[in-house]
Amino acid sequence: MSKKLPFFKKKTEEQLQDEFELSSIPEHVAIIMDGNGRWAKKKGLPRVAGHKEGMDVVRNTVKAAVNFDIKILTLFAFSTENWKRPKSEIEFIMRLPKEFIHKYLPELMENNVRIETIGDFNTLPLHTKEAIQYAKEQTKNNDGLLLNFALNYGSRYEIMRAIKLIISDADHSKISLDDLDEDTFSEYLYTTGLTDPDLLIRTSGEMRLSNFLLWQLAYSEFWFTDVLWPDFNDDIFKQALLDYQNRKRRYGGI
Ligand code: FPP
Repeated sequence: MSKKLPFFKKKTEEQLQDEFELSSIPEHVAIIMDGNGRWAKKKGLPRVAGHKEGMDVVRNTVKAAVNFDIKILTLFAFSTENWKRPKSEIEFIMRLPKEFIHKYLPELMENNVRIETIGDFNTLPLHTKEAIQYAKEQTKNNDGLLLNFALNYGSRYEIMRAIKLIISDADHSKISLDDLDEDTFSEYLYTTGLTDPDLLIRTSGEMRLSNFLLWQLAYSEFWFTDVLWPDFNDDIFKQALLDYQNRKRRYGGI
């Protein structure tokens, strides 16, 4: 058992058993955290206030994921398309990882959470990279929940990049194209080594993938809610998990 802070109010096995079928908790949950701007607008606040609130909801969601015994939580924090936003908003979002880590690293450590990222890391601002690198280094030996931020992530770019890497490896005789199959292809994606998401959640009522994990979501269950990300909470998360448990995953079979 990994150590857990009482702060996380870990539920007893019995409490969870009452609510869920523990054997079918999704191993990997991916979330498109959408609606921060609309949440702020509704409250007459600047858009960035929604992102700030969204950051604290990330912390609560991590806490819930630890409680639910989810193994991997992949959160879409910044897409390759988000660079089109006003500079001031981009700068604000890029400062959030540092703030998040500063505020929450101790409790993440105590709860055995490991931080990783997917996406084009190199082109992030230096201060963002340094903060994340620090968190990755500090948490690298934790073997509880994997908190995986998709940051500067775009799925088409990821797939193109994989193709280029494969061609390069083929040119250097490191791989034979005859041996290329779906599993090998997956190894060239940012998500190498991770199981595919079992469940995708998107908030804010939008029903699209927005260039998120196109390859990896091939057989995932999708769950949408009108709730805006800053209003996402444990009860809504639980509802998504309960609905997931009522789906029959057939992977093309019968
Ligand atoms: C989409 O909402 C949200 C984002 C582009 C940013 C998401 C970032 C966070 C929730 C904080 C991440 C925290 C860390 C620690 C990295 P939107 O702005 O597109 O909302 P809208 O569709 O209502 O305008």
